[in-house]
Amino acid sequence: MSRAGGRARKGDERTADPKPEPSALAREVAATVPDTLSEFWADDFARRWRGRDRTTAFERTLLDRLLAKVDPARVFELGTGIGRLTPAFRARAREYVGVDLSLDLLTNARAHLGNDRPHLLVHANVVHLPFVAGAASAAGLIRIYNHLTRPGAALAELRRILAPGGQFVASASVRPSITTLELDLHDALARRAGVPFEGLTFRPEPVVERRAHRMVVFFPTRRELDEVLARSETSLLAEYGVGVNDLYLFRRVRFPVDDLMESGRRHPRSMLFPMRWFVGRWGAPDGRPLPPLSEIFACPRCHTPLGRVDLDSDWAIACATCRFPIEFRDSILRAVWSGGPGGGEGPAPGPAPTGSGGGASPSPGRSTAARGPTELI
Ligand SMILES: C[S@@+](CC[C@H](N)C(=O)[O-])C[C@H]1O[C@@H](n2cnc3c(N)ncnc32)[C@H](O)[C@@H]1O
Ligand SMILES: [Zn+2]
Repeated sequence: MSRAGGRARKGDERTADPKPEPSALAREVAATVPDTLSEFWADDFARRWRGRDRTTAFERTLLDRLLAKVDPARVFELGTGIGRLTPAFRARAREYVGVDLSLDLLTNARAHLGNDRPHLLVHANVVHLPFVAGAASAAGLIRIYNHLTRPGAALAELRRILAPGGQFVASASVRPSITTLELDLHDALARRAGVPFEGLTFRPEPVVERRAHRMVVFFPTRRELDEVLARSETSLLAEYGVGVNDLYLFRRVRFPVDDLMESGRRHPRSMLFPMRWFVGRWGAPDGRPLPPLSEIFACPRCHTPLGRVDLDSDWAIACATCRFPIEFRDSILRAVWSGGPGGGEGPAPGPAPTGSGGGASPSPGRSTAARGPTELI
């Protein structure tokens, strides 16, 4: 995976061109995925997470406690990234399914999977999941909400693939918060002459986009997040304020984990907590068993079930209804669909994509600030 470049410095030629040439991988994915951001997969996630082990330990613990309350029969991790939280999912799930839009990251996540329990890796877009309805007993979407141009569509997909009554754990960074203030301060100081400073924290729009090199993050207000959840008819079962320990200033502080969780539970909407983690659910369990793992796949474009597939050898097929190509190779199901004609969801005209073509344009950035000291994602 190519690097997004380090923090911009004065005189550094990267500051002169805040949007460097994307890698081949970034170009390929950007061309097929208008639902998501243009080039964030070219970022160096491992580097972003260096020095933040305490945050990861905290999030694994919190996730473990929340997953202890869900049906562990088959848990999906949507947006595996480099697999930072995969051990927490694996520890609870009787069967684990990991999904990511970046094949590169998904391959990294594989290193966190043992061979003791059934698991599957799936290269797909969370807005168009290649699974039949009711395939999952529970799911987690951590630190992905703020990457999505259409988070409500992702929630609708999640609702479709969860068995009735299935629960999910998700996180979203909101504003205003102590972190957006920290980012604003950084951006104000790093601003290049002549570039107007707008800031994130107190802007009136429901969602503000922040672009830092190739990474784009959408920041909703607390109210906007509430509205997206209300529109998706999610029943909220619990919510936590999270993330104060990930502030640049506090990374070396050894917070008592239980106290931190308890205050996040008591004050989930405090400005001190830049992220909200919440547990949601739709409907009530109907007692029906999940389909077997070999029968959970469907076309990501038209949702026609693939029937029973072989999970021990490679294969490639076209959807019986829309001819969308789906492949199982190196134990990874590959079925990235980006939306397109008929779905009214993005440019991507033409035939079903095979990994290139489609014509999405990069998402328009408002600010071109350099990456700040606070890494939200
Ligand atoms: C900031 S990372 C977080 C990864 C992991 N959950 C964690 O907390 O470390 C966001 C991940 O979401 C994935 N992602 C973003 N948009 C996606 C989409 N539309 N479909 C699937 N994965 C997506 C990215 O490839 C990336 O791995
Ligand atoms: Zn199809």
